[in-house]
Amino acid sequence: MTQNTYLMDSSSAIKPFNEALVTWQNTYGRHDLPWQHNLNRYRVWISEVMLQQTQVNTVIPYYQRFMDHFPDVQTLSMASVDKVLALWSGLGYYRRGRFLWEAARVVMQKHHGIMPKKPNDLINLPGIGQSTAHAILSLADNQPFAILDGNVKRVLIRYAGLKTPWQDPKTIKKLWQLAEYLMPQYYCREYNQGLMDLGTSICKKSKPLCEQCPIQRHCQAHIQGITHLLPITSPRKPLPKRSQTLLVIKHRDHILVTKRPNSGIWPNLWSLPEQQIGQKDQHSIPKEWVISSQTLQNIKHKFTHFELTINPVLLETNTQDAEHFGIQGDWLSRSQINEYALAKPIKTLLQKLL
Ligand code: ADE
Repeated sequence: MTQNTYLMDSSSAIKPFNEALVTWQNTYGRHDLPWQHNLNRYRVWISEVMLQQTQVNTVIPYYQRFMDHFPDVQTLSMASVDKVLALWSGLGYYRRGRFLWEAARVVMQKHHGIMPKKPNDLINLPGIGQSTAHAILSLADNQPFAILDGNVKRVLIRYAGLKTPWQDPKTIKKLWQLAEYLMPQYYCREYNQGLMDLGTSICKKSKPLCEQCPIQRHCQAHIQGITHLLPITSPRKPLPKRSQTLLVIKHRDHILVTKRPNSGIWPNLWSLPEQQIGQKDQHSIPKEWVISSQTLQNIKHKFTHFELTINPVLLETNTQDAEHFGIQGDWLSRSQINEYALAKPIKTLLQKLL
């Protein structure tokens, strides 16, 4: 019996785990997050996608703004993608915002405007994976589907005392088996929310609060005294590096922004004009239009596959006629920042400069 010995061989192991977690969630878990009110699959879907790479506190104002504009799947499907991305701007990982809009259109066309309630129908929509689909169905409808996001992986790895690297496909497969095995048929919403809450507030990456943990007695990592060693991560290769010089062309209290092409980094988002290749140490703006020039502090930004160093150069100009520079764009004032779908580091930079 080598297979899943950590599960023990009787289903009686499940109950204390579930009961302890659900009881803990009722008292100590989160109940007042905006997406926990007026529960429905649409609202939970939007929250889950926003929460995929972003912390709860950052998400809340974005979520509320998004819901004010797009309270249901129909309004989202009828919006322009630029409007959706403008509301997404600052959350990063823009593909998530684009997928929401695309998925809303599929829901209108293929599902009569009703968010599907079967896992596979959800998974077939753009941007929804298995864990997100299961989170939507368990949190919105109390259906018994297991979830496995980053926090839940850490909780289950420690609970089971798994000593293989957590990114390893075999580990992921075991974790899904374990997650499904433990998934109760009742209190599905509280149980899954409890797993996520436990992962963020108790079973933290560093300095976990085991003394306050409701499942401490069942946790292999705790029993073996190895909580601080788990999960095991396999060493990552450093990301390749790229750099880019961006021109911050400023005229009084306006900065020139341009829309990026629909391929490459930040497709279709607004950014700053790039310095032209071949003009390494000179700006692409003829000197007669430049009042002053200053190199600003560089900015590092991580993409999934590389790390970008942005070298911004501030150029104060004496004209607002961008045709002089051969650049097509819009002059942005501070009050317009939120109306444009700006790439995240650019938005942060403009907020500082305007
Ligand atoms: N992270 C992902 N989903 C979440 C949720 N429903 N509540 C809190 N944090 C989360």
